[in-house]
Amino acid sequence: MRRPIIAGNWKMNMTSAQGVRLVEELKPLVADADCDVAVCVPFTDIPAVSAALMGSNIRLGAQNVHFAENGAYTGEISAQMLKEFGVEYVIVGHSERRRMFDDTDEVVNMRMHAALAAGMTPIVCLGETLEQREGGETERCLSYQVEHSLKGLDDVSKIVIAYEPIWAIGTGRTATAQQANDTIAYIRKKCAEVFCPKCAEKVRIQYGGSMNAGNCKELMAMPEIDGGLIGGASLKAADFAAIVRYNK
Ligand code: PGA
Repeated sequence: MRRPIIAGNWKMNMTSAQGVRLVEELKPLVADADCDVAVCVPFTDIPAVSAALMGSNIRLGAQNVHFAENGAYTGEISAQMLKEFGVEYVIVGHSERRRMFDDTDEVVNMRMHAALAAGMTPIVCLGETLEQREGGETERCLSYQVEHSLKGLDDVSKIVIAYEPIWAIGTGRTATAQQANDTIAYIRKKCAEVFCPKCAEKVRIQYGGSMNAGNCKELMAMPEIDGGLIGGASLKAADFAAIVRYNK
């Protein structure tokens, strides 16, 4: 049995003070969760949100990490800097970063390894564009991403994978539960080929893309879907809590 993980991705929203207010509201609402819960917050929110989460069941995540340990990388943040504030998860390879900030599979792969080396769990995002989906290229795209973004892993179950069809992110257009389930099943099959069947069975694969309080039950009922990476709906405590409590 894989323990589901629901993670919020705040993206570039919430000042530190707003973030603290949000998690203070969230804490009592999700205290009875049966799944792992995390919020992936902007870098500058990390110190205050980390303190606010102390003693709660909500874990802290970041949205990116540089691949080098330190050095001349103006404007970047290392894994050790995150670790110092109790960051446990880090999103890497989000499609917004791949598209707008040139995160190639090679760079995503280096970020993933940096997070693992520091003892954090990377949430590695994979997903196809609308053009690829409509052109029947979904499996080819995901297969390439599994081979290249996840290269060099000894055990794929050390990471979390987020399957996020790019056409469903922030668009209000969700993949159907069946579509998401089948595509995640394909990713798992590919992981079994590239890594090992046992660790592919264990790796948690989330769905992400316009998941909300209304559709989470149906998505989470699918056998292959092990959680969600939630953008827009993670910015309101009640909405995010409703997703975390999908089984209540
Ligand atoms: P969304 O974002 O829930 O707003 O579609 C998901 C994500 O980008 O991780």
